[in-house]
Amino acid sequence: MSEQTPSTTTRVIDGKLAAERVRQEVAVAVAERRTRGLRAPGLATVLVGADPASAVYVRNKRKAAEGAGIISVHHELPAETTTAELLACVAALNVDDTVDGILVQLPLPKHIDEHAVLVAITPAKDVDGFHPDNVARLAMGLKGGFVPCTPLGCLRLLDDEGVTLAGLHAVVVGRSNIVGKPMASLLLQRDATVTIAHSKTKNLAELTRSADIVVAAVGRVKMLGREHIKPGAIVIDVGINRGADGKLCGDVDFDAIQGIALAATPVPGGVGPMTIAMLLQNTLTSFDRATGSLTSTAKKAP
Ligand code: GUN
Repeated sequence: MSEQTPSTTTRVIDGKLAAERVRQEVAVAVAERRTRGLRAPGLATVLVGADPASAVYVRNKRKAAEGAGIISVHHELPAETTTAELLACVAALNVDDTVDGILVQLPLPKHIDEHAVLVAITPAKDVDGFHPDNVARLAMGLKGGFVPCTPLGCLRLLDDEGVTLAGLHAVVVGRSNIVGKPMASLLLQRDATVTIAHSKTKNLAELTRSADIVVAAVGRVKMLGREHIKPGAIVIDVGINRGADGKLCGDVDFDAIQGIALAATPVPGGVGPMTIAMLLQNTLTSFDRATGSLTSTAKKAP
């Protein structure tokens, strides 16, 4: 047993706790605006079809919004909804002054033109940060847009860890529009040296072993193990997978990297809760821009 005892203890990055802090910050900021006589911020969620996982995600987002004093407006549309019908719903929300954030839950049913829908959401209410205007703003390092919630949550966890990213080598495993690409942009903005790896990358372990920061966002059960991590690295696991045992697990083998990584996020309880917390923060930012009530909390958003 003794040779298996880790030489260093890997710190568990508690995303649940960090998310609770963000939610509390947003709740306090919302309450402060109400005392100034302002309306409550509004978040509209749109769910098309009956995908059970999406239904759970949306329910959690709505509950969290309401918990922070944000008004949740929910539209549930049948699976047969046409692209035109969904576009009409989005158009109505775009001009609704009580709605600051619009979130159309993905994935959409196959027959719906997802790109057309995401482009139809007015960039000023695109709290998901998926509209090309917001994608471009992030890529160009321009303020005033919205950053996708999951990478924003990852960055917040790194900030809470007190990591100075400038000059560090960060390897992002995964190149999705929702996580991998915006994560790489955010890290680059902080002067990290960024490598994006993906399913076709050769010698992945060699690459990730040179990383000070590893962000895993590939969606493959425990794809990264001990051999992928440099001693002292910080590991952020975005994966939410169902393991062979039916339990939730990440893209990283959390047990295998114990004693190697300096700190790592668990699954569940790591990045997941942060996604919802950052959605609330983005909604508050949108509200502040709409009402002209910017404060220090809102200014923190990249
Ligand atoms: N589906 C999975 N993650 C997300 C997300 O962050 N936003 C939306 N709209 N849909 C998702």
